[in-house]
Amino acid sequence: MSEVRFDGRVAIVTGAGGGLGRAHALLLASRGAKVVVNDLGGARDGTGGGSAMADKVAEEIRATGGEATPNYDGVDTAEGGEAIVKTALDAYGKVDILINNAGILRDRAFHNLTEEDWEKVLAVHLKGAFCVTQPAFRVMRQNQYGRIVFTTSAAGLYGNFGQTNYGSAKMALVGLMNTLKIEGQKYNILANTIAPLAGSRLTEDVLPTPVVEALKPGLVSPIAAYLCSEECTETGSVWVAGGGYFSRAAIVEGKGVALDPSGEISLEQIRDNWGKIKEMSGAEEFANANAEGLSRIFSNLQRGAPAQ
Ligand code: NAI
Repeated sequence: MSEVRFDGRVAIVTGAGGGLGRAHALLLASRGAKVVVNDLGGARDGTGGGSAMADKVAEEIRATGGEATPNYDGVDTAEGGEAIVKTALDAYGKVDILINNAGILRDRAFHNLTEEDWEKVLAVHLKGAFCVTQPAFRVMRQNQYGRIVFTTSAAGLYGNFGQTNYGSAKMALVGLMNTLKIEGQKYNILANTIAPLAGSRLTEDVLPTPVVEALKPGLVSPIAAYLCSEECTETGSVWVAGGGYFSRAAIVEGKGVALDPSGEISLEQIRDNWGKIKEMSGAEEFANANAEGLSRIFSNLQRGAPAQ
């Protein structure tokens, strides 16, 4: 059986000083990638910082014969993102792979959420993904090759009490990916998103200890790494992974109902068609905004559906 390898490939993993990022970095390096191990080294809420976490993982990689360079910049500013990509360019001359993984938590029930908790969480997860991905994407575009992975969460896809800030940022990353897959395709830049579940300092006090121990981050990394491989040609999907379970999540649209747009549409027509509007059997996934979703609206406008 041939191995999935990353020889000659240069990877950046953000927030790789612990948890999932560390596991992704170790796996990529063990398969031949040169890895920039980025981590700000702060606390779980994003405060503080230091070089120890990134250094430790880079040393771990080197100790097993791999190649790694630490970087301590925060992902949440344009300067930080540029510096992270520059670290890869200075050390290895290019960037082929980017895993946007850095993250923090500031959970609070919505009515207690402060502007600072909102802004900080969006800054690290969403703006951070922009700040690192844009300079990396520019390099990948020139090289006509790239593999980008974003990290969302079930909290964004489905909701979770106390995580309006985190869930908003995480779901926004799916939106970022949806357009980046379109803009990158011509340049062989593929973008995917993982929705992981793993025991880490982010989950250690929300899940029972035995579950945290069983949900090893290394059980998620194989799909993150596979999505970064040359042989994987997937783009634009969300991949769920945790504890050895893997699946794909997608946004789908139901068949809906086409009402006659030539006159007024009454509230009663909405009420009377509610079952059809809500029905999800036969729901479909769309490749982009124009593919089907909008075209259904435009074709209904043009033909003027028979009155219901
Ligand atoms: P973690 O706390 O161990 O890892 C996050 C890392 O990001 C930390 O090492 C932290 O120092 C670093 N970081 C924070 N702010 C940074 C910044 N501004 N710049 C650079 N690095 C920064 O937590 P975990 O669980 O490994 O999380 C990794 C990613 O996976 C996060 O994006 C998280 O939201 C996501 N995730 C994790 C889940 C889980 O079950 N552990 C569930 C769903 C998503």
